[in-house]
Amino acid sequence: MQQQTLTQQETNPLASLEQWEDDVLLRYPEPGCAQPTHKAKEAYRNYDSPERDTVREFYRLNHRYQTFDFVREKESEFLKFDKKEMPVWNAMEFLNTLVDDSDPDTDLDQLQHLLQTAEAIRADGHPDWFVLTGFLHDMGKVLCLFGEPQWAVVGDTFPVGCAHSDKIVYPEYFAANPDSYDERYNTKYGVYSHHCGLKNVHMSWGHDEYLYQITKNYLPEPALYMIRYHSFYSQHREKAYDHLLDDHDRAMFPWVDKFNPYDLYSKSPKPPVVSELKPYYEDLIAKYLPATVRL
Ligand SMILES: [Fe+2]
Ligand SMILES: [Fe+2]
Repeated sequence: MQQQTLTQQETNPLASLEQWEDDVLLRYPEPGCAQPTHKAKEAYRNYDSPERDTVREFYRLNHRYQTFDFVREKESEFLKFDKKEMPVWNAMEFLNTLVDDSDPDTDLDQLQHLLQTAEAIRADGHPDWFVLTGFLHDMGKVLCLFGEPQWAVVGDTFPVGCAHSDKIVYPEYFAANPDSYDERYNTKYGVYSHHCGLKNVHMSWGHDEYLYQITKNYLPEPALYMIRYHSFYSQHREKAYDHLLDDHDRAMFPWVDKFNPYDLYSKSPKPPVVSELKPYYEDLIAKYLPATVRL
């Protein structure tokens, strides 16, 4: 896939990255705050609005272009980490330079979302590395600032190299993905094997895998699972890929489940005061991570 052949509309179909997250929230409303899931799902599918059309277009592109070869290309392009090197806090400020068409009066910026997620984890008395994970988990969205299309940065992630589950949102759009017709990739196991473990599985490319690769030598294993699989909704919510998980994955996924509500349900209209929180997070970063990270 030649990225340069994409139009601006195909690169950035969403007005802002939050449109994807708002859409996930519609799909997985906070328990106790919504109708039973099956009704919510029906409403979700039928809901008619320009934003929904935008999100649908986003998924059409995501499902069309995220092929096994595309993922391997992105891995070799970005896992060289030759783009930038800076302290983590600066990387967060860099992420916050991401300006899109979100509404500045109602939408939180990236740093505010990360701080709200982390503060909600902290308020529940979880270990400090869990708090740090909440703070870091979307740092990989800096990919957008390197000119990557939105559908290669955010969106539900899924395994590539094997059949696409119909539990992935908008599965019908995989009909346009060449891997769906490739015999190497279109069977239940594809290039993988029974319970081979997710460590052997390539996921669709985005901010989750990228940040995992940046932090993998520094954070405890449950933190790395939270980072690497937080957008893998077809597994942590729908259990669609149990056949690829090994014992270690099964032991770790409860942490991904534990993390997800903080990501989805911690958004509050009251923005955190960054200057008050910065010293605590600077200490936490220094405790676990090197002075600078390479992006
Ligand atoms: Fe995320
Ligand atoms: Fe997030």
